Amino acid sequence: MDLPPEPEPSEEQLGSIDCLACHAYSGGGPHFKRPNLSPDLYDADETSDVHMARGLSCIDCHKAVDHTFPTKSTDTWNREEGHIPQCTDCHGQDSHGGLKGWILNTFHDRVACQVCHIPYIAHGEYPTDMYRNWTHPEFVAEAAKYEPQLDLRKMVEPVYAWYNGTRKAYLYPAKIELENGKITYLAPLGSKDDHKAKIYHTSYTTQ
Ligand code: HEC
Ligand code: HEC
Ligand code: HEC
Ligand code: HEC
Repeated sequence: MDLPPEPEPSEEQLGSIDCLACHAYSGGGPHFKRPNLSPDLYDADETSDVHMARGLSCIDCHKAVDHTFPTKSTDTWNREEGHIPQCTDCHGQDSHGGLKGWILNTFHDRVACQVCHIPYIAHGEYPTDMYRNWTHPEFVAEAAKYEPQLDLRKMVEPVYAWYNGTRKAYLYPAKIELENGKITYLAPLGSKDDHKAKIYHTSYTTQ
């Protein structure tokens, strides 16, 4: 039997809507999947996302090669190799103009752009999950399954931490080390004295 040739897959055909199908809803609910991308992005405005409101799509910044999307954030397990998208790719190292800009640019070596430009997480219509408590699961009839108790929040203030691009990760079967009765799964590494580190915004989520 002669089958028609497979269409050539093309990155250019993808829109943000294709990425949001997974990234806005997976992980148990809207805005749950790390790094907490909101369904607000389906119809972004200047307050939800200045880039997407002005017509940029995910792949303008995340340029995939061979299906890899390189990043270095603390909480994705698979950290793929390649160029990690940076704000300075498009805005340059001296991103601010004028006298006020000259002062702002002096922060760039030690403060990540996101610290000032993303003051709140979940700042749109949808809350994000901050705490999943599995010690008291509840039966959810519509879903016909047990779910953890969730602490959903909006307008979450980020937690600020030094981050040099590396992280501490707990991987089974390593010995469990409890800190204040808790296991740290993933945490950013870096300090003020580490000149590769900048202050980044992050969030503190517990399961
Ligand atoms: C079929 C579901 C699905 C679709 C569609 C999808 N992703 Fe993902 N994506 C995932 C999963 C699952 C991960 C891995 C999460 C992890 O490692 O914790 C991931 C990881 C990523 C990462 C982090 C990569 C890393 O190094 O860990 C980026 C960035 C990303 N996706 C961007 C995109 C973009 C941009 C699109 C649209 C072109 C897209 N994704 C479409 C499911 C999807
Ligand atoms: C204006 C540029 C820009 C746009 C548009 C953009 N991103 Fe990102 N994204 C970034 C940057 C910069 C980071 C942080 C990269 C880093 O430091 O690892 C990031 C981080 C991420 C991460 C976290 C990766 C991780 O390791 O946890 C995912 C997933 C992701 N973006 C997916 C998307 C999806 C899906 C879209 C479209 C709905 C999108 N991004 C649109 C610039 C962008
Ligand atoms: C792929 C290129 C690209 C990347 C990467 C990128 N931007 Fe942008 N950014 C743009 C474009 C294009 C605009 C719209 C400019 C316009 O409307 O004149 C914009 C607009 C902005 C604005 C609004 C400026 C204004 O005049 O209102 C801010 C703030 C901003 N970006 C910050 C960032 C930050 C912070 C990051 C990293 C998380 C980032 N950008 C990553 C291309 C990019
Ligand atoms: C210390 C806080 C801070 C940091 C760090 C910071 N910005 Fe800004 N940024 C601001 C403020 C405040 C404004 C508004 C300036 C104004 O109203 O004149 C601004 C404005 C902008 C604009 C709009 C254009 C302009 O000159 O007003 C862009 C684009 C931008 N920032 C990109 C970035 C990028 C890219 C980085 C990282 C390399 C970054 N910012 C880091 C505080 C910061």
